[in-house]
Amino acid sequence: MSAEAEAVRCLLLAAYDARKRDLPWRGESDPYRIWVAEVMLQQTRVKTVVPYYRRWIRHFPSLEALAEAREEEVLLAWQGLGYYARARRLLAAAQVVRERYGGELPASAEELRRLPGVGDYTAGAVASMAFGEAVPAVDGNVKRVLARLFDLPDPGTAELRGLAGALVDPHRPGDFNQALMELGSTVCLPRSPLCPSCPLETLCLARGRGTVGERPARKGRPAVPGVEMAVVVAVAASVTGAAPEDGGHAGRPGEARETGASCGISFFLRKRRGTGLLAGMWEFPGVQVADAGRARGAALELVGELELDVLGPPVELDAVAHAFTHLKVRYRPFVLWVSGVGSDTEGRWLGPEELSRVPLPVAQERIAQAAIEVVRHGPQSL
Ligand code: ADE
Repeated sequence: MSAEAEAVRCLLLAAYDARKRDLPWRGESDPYRIWVAEVMLQQTRVKTVVPYYRRWIRHFPSLEALAEAREEEVLLAWQGLGYYARARRLLAAAQVVRERYGGELPASAEELRRLPGVGDYTAGAVASMAFGEAVPAVDGNVKRVLARLFDLPDPGTAELRGLAGALVDPHRPGDFNQALMELGSTVCLPRSPLCPSCPLETLCLARGRGTVGERPARKGRPAVPGVEMAVVVAVAASVTGAAPEDGGHAGRPGEARETGASCGISFFLRKRRGTGLLAGMWEFPGVQVADAGRARGAALELVGELELDVLGPPVELDAVAHAFTHLKVRYRPFVLWVSGVGSDTEGRWLGPEELSRVPLPVAQERIAQAAIEVVRHGPQSL
């Protein structure tokens, strides 16, 4: 392997030096910033990550700044990137680093691995890029490159880590790991790999054997279940909530402040508790229904449970679909004018301006925009 490893390093690093993309975290020496980039890049494309990364670094320029932030601020900065548990764990890990390590990220993959949300990939990426430790960082792209390079139909994680660990360049481990990732995302593509442009073409076993298209073997993905949700978009006139703060309290109609809803309307939202999907994010109250035909009745029932007095007929908005990794959700929103206060202690009345200052999942943001539109211009604009 070592002669082969040497050839891979030599060809790969030469191509990386010549063609690498200019990305804002490349050339960065602050381990915190490298860590942020790698966490963002875990399930999200480079193109999407770049503007988020830039904004994040302006907002939280140091680990200390992040460790001091409120969860809601952190979720707001992450809004739109998805997989929000990443943001919550980043914050938790920053607090641990501040308390246990005096604010300096530990310098080895083994210690990094002990932080909340840091798995083998992130630990390897940060240790190699920020601290020059010769450890592998195997993400989905790297798996595909290695499966083809060694012509492995169905390699296990341990096998891949072993191979990547033997290949990694001891002098430039961070660049080597990034070069493998770069190859996977720009050349060694899943469906139409650009083999004639690949620096490793002459070493690639799958290329030699004509098996590139079957490596790694495609596994049938399990079907993702779908659910329908009825959503209550309760709207009240001349109501503004308090400025967002952790803990939430039930703002009341009549508790109007000078600032807040510019157009004199507010919506009733709740903050998701716990640690599950979208925890800490805000949403319109909703309830799962067996089928779309039951959504209207369920919305009316829910509004009753919230002790909101309904003033007019429900106006149905276009359904909003969102695919989470393990679940497809179709939201069926109903706008209802109400006069009541609402009994829910986790709820708050938020005007259009305030909605942009609390973290909202993408689907809820779309519902909010459609609701603002329909309330301001009437249902004929639907
Ligand atoms: N994907 C994950 N980490 C990356 C990096 N540092 N550069 C480009 N793509 C990546």
